[in-house]
Amino acid sequence: MFRIFALLLTLFSFNCFASVARIAIVGAMDVEIEGILPKLTNVKHETIGNHIFYIGELNKKPVIVTKSGVGKVNAALTTTLLASKFNVTSIIFTGIAGACSPSLEPMDVVISTALVQHDVDLTAFGSPIGLLDGYENREFLPSESLVNQALEAAHSVLGEDKVTAGTIVSGDQFIADKKKVAFLYQEFQAKAVEMEGAALAQVADNFNIPYVVIRTISDKADGSASLTYDEMKNTTAYNSISILLEMFK
Ligand code: ADE
Repeated sequence: MFRIFALLLTLFSFNCFASVARIAIVGAMDVEIEGILPKLTNVKHETIGNHIFYIGELNKKPVIVTKSGVGKVNAALTTTLLASKFNVTSIIFTGIAGACSPSLEPMDVVISTALVQHDVDLTAFGSPIGLLDGYENREFLPSESLVNQALEAAHSVLGEDKVTAGTIVSGDQFIADKKKVAFLYQEFQAKAVEMEGAALAQVADNFNIPYVVIRTISDKADGSASLTYDEMKNTTAYNSISILLEMFK
């Protein structure tokens, strides 16, 4: 009898836990979320497939933190799970990116004002590159309010010089080519390139969940990209985390 009561109580409290409205925080790699996890209080884990969701509080605000894995499919899958299994009110992506704008250097920060999937190509049918079938625009637009909150936090952590707002493009490619990066800048006026943001945006839009992407530049997406990326990965991932943490102060 006591065991049944304990089981019911556990199930009830887990249900309450799962139904609390939470802000989702997503990074693609361990290094993009590991600086956040020790700051969480009242943490519980839930695993779905091979995705671990850390459900807890960040500075007393209910959050759910997870690693999506690299690439658009992983980002779309994670966003779908967040939207359908948890009561998520907004999504903040934190991580690193290659620079597309020639004026950006490693450690500069880009806050997304638009996200485009640069590897979508239906040009054979007369569509502009990046435009998905059934959509009017190739740009997915983040929440203005979250963009402003992220900008304010970034300015207060790093100062205005290091921070810019603009288009971030995503594709299932690590860009390490001068010509390709010049194309992304010219075609999309992209400030940064990464591998998840626009996929997260497409799914979040589908569920009407506001989102923003915070990216610190780790490399210049040119011939030296893989070397600079390896060297800068940790520092730049933590730079984005410091902005995210400032948003929760
Ligand atoms: N993330 C960090 N650097 C990148 C690059 N050069 N291309 C794609 N994603 C990245």
